[in-house]
Amino acid sequence: MISFVNVEKVYPDGTRAVKSLDMTINEGEFFVLIGPSGCGKTTTLKMINRLNETSDGKILIRDKSIHDYNIHELRRNIGYVLQQIALFPHMTIEENISIVPELKGWDKKKVKARVTELLELVGLDPEQYRNRKPSELSGGQQQRIGVARALAADPPVILMDEPFSALDPISREQLQKDIVALQAKIKKTIVFVTHDMNEALTLGDRVCLMKDGHVVQIGTPEELVNDPANDFVESFLGNRQNVWATNVIEVVKKFRDRMQTIPEATTAEIKSNATIEEAYELLHHHSALRVLRRNEEIGIVTSSMILEFLYDHSKEGGFIGS
Ligand SMILES: Nc1ncnc2c1ncn2[C@@H]1O[C@H](COP(=O)(O)OP(=O)(O)OP(=O)(O)O)[C@@H](O)[C@H]1O
Ligand SMILES: [Mg+2]
Repeated sequence: MISFVNVEKVYPDGTRAVKSLDMTINEGEFFVLIGPSGCGKTTTLKMINRLNETSDGKILIRDKSIHDYNIHELRRNIGYVLQQIALFPHMTIEENISIVPELKGWDKKKVKARVTELLELVGLDPEQYRNRKPSELSGGQQQRIGVARALAADPPVILMDEPFSALDPISREQLQKDIVALQAKIKKTIVFVTHDMNEALTLGDRVCLMKDGHVVQIGTPEELVNDPANDFVESFLGNRQNVWATNVIEVVKKFRDRMQTIPEATTAEIKSNATIEEAYELLHHHSALRVLRRNEEIGIVTSSMILEFLYDHSKEGGFIGS
């Protein structure tokens, strides 16, 4: 979907911000860029929509060079949440969110309905907030509007630069869940920058760890945790307990008091002492698994149960978290 081929970025003052970057982000993937401050995350993101031009190499979107797209068309099809909030101060929240849909020529009714839908999605009451100015919102609320605006015209690609950094932990977690649910539903390609390893491991289909302008390791959260490429990756991950190695029975226990609807076609089975990682693998092919202990069914497990388990674990500081 988005390919970097030997991409270099040298700023006019000689700073080499990105060095021979080679990677491909897949269609529909939630791809997380993480690394220390100054390692080149924002620079990498901005080269995709040409807010920064590459100094060398090529970036392709759907096999076509970004330079072969009309630049306005390119940007309209790439939602962008900036690291610093940049709402237009003289426009209302509704107007801010409507910019790209209007540029795309959507009719008024459709735009208005979309604004309502998006405000609800980011947890702000549409009637209360749509006519306010950005200055009448808190920093965290403005950040949510930034997210809503990036999603507004339903772009196939969304770039998000630390979009949740100004939010309190509860709102942050809520928005993380919303964005995961949303992406599962609409299958956008999301490139997401964060400083927060727990956020990266929770959200990412794959995580790309950068250092000094180059890639150190790209892999699934499991791969990074279980098989860190070197000491830098390991130290960046911190002293993490591997929750993926937890037995599946822990997930079943957690949901014991909750009614689970068993999808009818569920025939796949897993032993209660198998790991969460093994269950998660199998759940790529099955909507649910029957969990067996000594050949007796003790419950079922689904990927959403596992994800919720991981979230709660991360909240307690246990999930791959120190
Ligand atoms: N316009 C610029 N001119 C010169 N150097 C720049 C410019 N913008 C960024 N840099 C430098 O390029 C490097 C990468 O910056 P970038 O903003 O991509 O880092 P980052 O990984 O997003 O950091 P952070 O996590 O702090 O946001 C840094 O050394 C930075 O100082
Ligand atoms: Mg940055």
